[in-house]
Amino acid sequence: MRKPFVAGNWKMHKTAAEAVALVEELKPLLADTTQVEVAVCPPYTSLVAVQQALAGSSIGLGAQNVHWEASGAFTGEISAEMLLTSGCKYAIIGHSERRQYFADTDETVNRKLTAALGAGMVPIVCVGETLEQREAGQIEAVVLGQLNGALQGIQAKDASRIVLAYEPVWAIGTGKTATSAQAEEVHALIRGRLKALYGPEVADAIRLQYGGSVKPDNAAELFAQPNIDGGLIGGAALKAEDFAAIVQAAG
Ligand code: PGA
Repeated sequence: MRKPFVAGNWKMHKTAAEAVALVEELKPLLADTTQVEVAVCPPYTSLVAVQQALAGSSIGLGAQNVHWEASGAFTGEISAEMLLTSGCKYAIIGHSERRQYFADTDETVNRKLTAALGAGMVPIVCVGETLEQREAGQIEAVVLGQLNGALQGIQAKDASRIVLAYEPVWAIGTGKTATSAQAEEVHALIRGRLKALYGPEVADAIRLQYGGSVKPDNAAELFAQPNIDGGLIGGAALKAEDFAAIVQAAG
């Protein structure tokens, strides 16, 4: 069985001191959580402080991006090894905000994914269609296209470590969640493609998170769907009680 996985994407929020305050609030709320894998992904500037604050807790640490090269003249970028040695097990890759504002493409997502896997990280790869694409009937083409692009050259032995997050762009930060049926339909599509690529055993091991306006009051219904194995949480991850309630909904 897949262990549900809930990760908080803090985006560009919280100074290091504020980030530590938030995990200090979160730790006792999640102290008894064993059924769900949990991670927080604060900005780079908070990683080390949050890692220290998380010592002894089962909450994992992730980054919001990673560069594909190991080192070199890439001003402003951070490598997988730098993240690992700062305590990060996870890296979010190809979030729609990065695709939209920072020129992430299927090709760079693939390079980042390859680097993160090579370093031994657990990548969280985001895919999802815009409203225009949904209304034009292009969900399958867009989502499976992004999936194929991300997974180019990735072998089955590495693939089971990948986490995929289906995040319809129109649902991110808008308060408009996909219905559980809409989300499950796309998750089942993704699972089917993973089966075709890697066979049923690997496909059944890969966790598929849903992301886009997940809140305490809609989480349980989303997570009850057969192919939804947790969530990638933005806004609600910034409130300890809301995030803890969402984690509990996945257990
Ligand atoms: P949201 O963001 O929960 O605020 O919609 C989700 C995400 O962007 O990962």
